[in-house]
Amino acid sequence: EDAEKGGYRHFMLKEIEEQPKALKDTMTSRLLEDQDQVILDQIKLGKKELQNINRIFIVACGTAYHAGLVGKYAIERFARIPVETEVASEFRYKKPIVDEHSLVIVVSQSGETADTLAALRLAKEKGARILAITNVIGSTVSREADNVLYTWAGPEIAVASTKAYTTQLICMYMLALHIALELGTISVEFFREIRDALKQTPQMVEEILKHKHDIQKFADHNFNTNSVFFLGRGLDYYTAMEGSLKLKEISYIHSEAYAAGELKHGTIALIEKGTLIIALATQQELYEKLLSNMKEVKARGAHVVAIAQEGHEEVKKVADEVFYIPRINDHVTPVTIIPILQLIAYYIAVARGTDVDKPRNLAKSVTVE
Ligand code: G6P
Repeated sequence: EDAEKGGYRHFMLKEIEEQPKALKDTMTSRLLEDQDQVILDQIKLGKKELQNINRIFIVACGTAYHAGLVGKYAIERFARIPVETEVASEFRYKKPIVDEHSLVIVVSQSGETADTLAALRLAKEKGARILAITNVIGSTVSREADNVLYTWAGPEIAVASTKAYTTQLICMYMLALHIALELGTISVEFFREIRDALKQTPQMVEEILKHKHDIQKFADHNFNTNSVFFLGRGLDYYTAMEGSLKLKEISYIHSEAYAAGELKHGTIALIEKGTLIIALATQQELYEKLLSNMKEVKARGAHVVAIAQEGHEEVKKVADEVFYIPRINDHVTPVTIIPILQLIAYYIAVARGTDVDKPRNLAKSVTVE
């Protein structure tokens, strides 16, 4: 096992650091610099097929569900088709309105999760078209779906998913761009903007990982906390959910993610002196709103750590600490912020002495209901 860890103390850190390569591998051959299209393996989702689809569902569990939320955002924003992202264990029992005009996208790292598989079978029975996004060739999900889009993340061993998640995000963006191009809902210029931003992500994640020792220092100062709140709006909210899940899974610290604007409807009652808040403020169109949410919690004594894009200076005046990510198109920030949150969770767990790669009560793949 030590040999497989390649000198790393934990698989999780190794896999976090493998992300630049995993992202690159997932895009190479699909997003080419000089082509205004996405080359999506054998997936037959051309204009004709898409015109027959009036609803898209994304169904998954855990981390893959969070990738599905970003997928909903991207498909709705780029392609203007309504998308519902559902947790598989809910989808399968809610008598979903699925028929032969539905596209059901099933996201699963392992391709073996029982609830996800049951959702796939249900949707298939109702005549829906099934597209799987999975990391494991030959997995049950990949065999039962009509089409498969592989995340080329390589084997993921740590229970807490990292590189599988970021490569799922890339697949979601590529799919959204593809659908949007086919339907003519985006311009070539917009396509190029997002394509180029996606192609920059490996390099940016590498940059971010170089500063991991700053994050370790932060973790060493904060590992004793017993509750953490992650705040965000829009895409940042989805990233907050994934960051919060990572922290819970491996550090056993209570943590919640909130849509920042919703705080005042209840959760703010929990904020007291010293409560640790991680506020994601990368979305230009929501930046001012987020700053004002940060002020609300600061005024109640919270310790606020913000994550923002480089060049956003005002955030420094409001937050106690700021981690910056290199500037990138707002639509793709989930790919570049999450490594920071993965590292926060990782170093906090290490400082607390938990079994990082095999956290209590959790399994890498849940193959029973
Ligand atoms: C388990 C793992 C999670 C994972 C979820 C879905 O709960 O601990 O990390 O996100 O299953 O797994 P899948 O293989 O379907 O993506």
